[in-house]
Amino acid sequence: MSQAALDILKREHRAISAVLFCLKHTVGEARRGAIVPPFAMIHAVLDYLTSFPNRFHHPKEDTYLFPAVLARAPDLEPVIADLLAQHEEGEERVSDLKDRAAELQTLWNGRWQGDGAAKFEAFADAVDSYVDFERAHGRKEGVEVMPRAQEALTEEDWAPIEAAFSANDDPIFGEEPRSRFDNLYSRIVALAPAPMGYAEREKPAKAPPPPEPESRLERASRQKLLTLNWI
Ligand SMILES: [Fe+2]
Ligand SMILES: [Fe+2]
Repeated sequence: MSQAALDILKREHRAISAVLFCLKHTVGEARRGAIVPPFAMIHAVLDYLTSFPNRFHHPKEDTYLFPAVLARAPDLEPVIADLLAQHEEGEERVSDLKDRAAELQTLWNGRWQGDGAAKFEAFADAVDSYVDFERAHGRKEGVEVMPRAQEALTEEDWAPIEAAFSANDDPIFGEEPRSRFDNLYSRIVALAPAPMGYAEREKPAKAPPPPEPESRLERASRQKLLTLNWI
């Protein structure tokens, strides 16, 4: 077994789940009107999810971890097939969330324009569903794959996995140094409204009060004016 590789894997899972929690929590706050929609943070989170899990973490599982596990524990084939399909679905979901976030930003002007409020509701539902989906995915890896990997893989099996997971830059997956993810992560923390992050909580402006009902005197004067106009 290789504790080092598993520790890296678990650390990456923790970083992903912290970002997912931040996204779900802040979008939830914006949904109930406690803060304005934090678009800069939402874009930063979606960029992070595209770069880190989707382009860096999952490909390492696909290329190194899963084939090694399959070779030693072929009965896990259906589980690995599910996980591979979920990696693809996760990418599609993030891409859909990015499109929705870009459109929503055009519908926000201090308050929602047109059908913006309804579209933000649907976006918040899609965020909740995506976060639940990714959490279930991480749990499946943690419960069904990692213990079997720990038990069945040899030191030789672990060597390339550990090398891939501990590399800062990986020539196979492009030049994405880990420092880029650290920077993106810090940006999310800086942009997330307090108490989740360091940004100020901006409350939405209150809607203007409805016009006062017309008094009898006002109505009478208006009618008088209209009558005068007819003369
Ligand atoms: Fe995965
Ligand atoms: Fe994973």
